[in-house]
Amino acid sequence: LILNDTPFMRSLNQEFTVQFSYSVHFTNGLFKADNPLLTEVVGSDGSKGPRKILFVVDQIVLEKTPGLLEQITAYVEQNPAVFTLAAPPIVVPGGEACKNEMRLVDQLQESIHRYHIDRHSYVAAVGGGAVLDLVGFAAAIAHRGIRHIRIPTTVLAQNDSGVGVKNGVNNFNKKNFTGTFSPPFAVLNDFEFLRTLNDRDWRAGISEAIKVSLIKDAAFFRFIQDNAQKLRNREMAAMEELIYRCAEMHLQHIGGAGDPFEKGSSRPLDFGHWAAHTLEQLTDYSIRHGEAVAIGIALDSTYSYLAGMLTKAEWQEILELIRAVGFDLYVPELAQPGTEPDQPLAILKGLADFREHLGGELTIMLLERIGRGVEVHEMDVELITRAVRMLEAAQYTSAPQIRN
Ligand SMILES: NC(=O)c1ccc[n+]([C@@H]2O[C@H](COP(=O)([O-])OP(=O)(O)OC[C@H]3O[C@@H](n4cnc5c(N)ncnc54)[C@H](O)[C@@H]3O)[C@@H](O)[C@H]2O)c1
Ligand SMILES: [Zn+2]
Repeated sequence: LILNDTPFMRSLNQEFTVQFSYSVHFTNGLFKADNPLLTEVVGSDGSKGPRKILFVVDQIVLEKTPGLLEQITAYVEQNPAVFTLAAPPIVVPGGEACKNEMRLVDQLQESIHRYHIDRHSYVAAVGGGAVLDLVGFAAAIAHRGIRHIRIPTTVLAQNDSGVGVKNGVNNFNKKNFTGTFSPPFAVLNDFEFLRTLNDRDWRAGISEAIKVSLIKDAAFFRFIQDNAQKLRNREMAAMEELIYRCAEMHLQHIGGAGDPFEKGSSRPLDFGHWAAHTLEQLTDYSIRHGEAVAIGIALDSTYSYLAGMLTKAEWQEILELIRAVGFDLYVPELAQPGTEPDQPLAILKGLADFREHLGGELTIMLLERIGRGVEVHEMDVELITRAVRMLEAAQYTSAPQIRN
């Protein structure tokens, strides 16, 4: 333990390991009186007596599911041995805008303070990825970390953002600048919520599944290809399978790749994201994260093809799938000129932000083939510019080709 003991310095070394574990469940009708899932998840935490639980609900989810607050209240009150409501559910604005308001973090912390939520109590968030990120952050910093249950209500939150270990809000005009790594207590995915999504939000999360399939699993890519039409037509069985497999792959990566808290410079699950994050800002968040990711995937796949890493046939298949599901390949902001003399394109700011967010060497995931990513440490501005032009052409010329 003693590292050094010399006339010049004395040093000690500290080392310990912390084990994290949380369960991710899939269900229908989480708050139905006869659904035991939430009661079992909370009831098995080893505490004696009822635990306090504070619900925070996405306002748009509430608007789309009238009676939700009453349902939540009735569910909790029906199980008094397991939990008690700390207060009536709190409603917060839904969507990315809630992550641009530090005031909401303060308000949530104040509620946690006022209702005496301690480290053995729960804060449960019901909503899209943005609300989960906001509430997760408030829960992570209050008392240095309160038990947090995520109840994701969008495709993207159920298959990606809600099942991971991160939270955060936007600050200084940078996405997710202020946040923590903080694994949830549990994640409860209720497919019923997906029925009220508009078509854009139903579709948006599919891009994260395409992303993970491209870098890790060709068979999953084929599954999405085979089901493109069903997914587009909002067939629930296909979507449930897509979410389950995508969530599973995200969990396997976070738990199994040796860097759950992203201490290294590499972030494979952010394939397609350097451009996506910047596009979200450039469009004033008028396009969804998932829509931006679809374009970012198209861009980095095109770049991979132009760089001679990916075959033309595979590149075309990727663009066809993105189109088949119903995404755009291009928005005008992708070609917007930058403000700095050495930045011909505004999206190039994304590369700098990306490097800075992780620190260390720039590391970008590209494709070697469908199902296999490969990391590079620089990108050629000329090739990026050509890729942008090709996407613009593809957006306005190619008809989507759907396999089945
Ligand atoms: N923490 C992470 O690891 C991580 C990973 C990826 C993405 N994210 C973040 O997730 C956010 C995107 O999440 P998102 O795609 O869920 O978007 P979102 O949370 O903005 O939700 C999209 C819209 O749908 C509404 N909505 C939510 N559920 C609904 C439902 N059941 N019916 C009808 N409308 C509903 C929301 O209020 C919002 O207006 C971004 O902020 C992104 O940065 C976080
Ligand atoms: Zn994403």
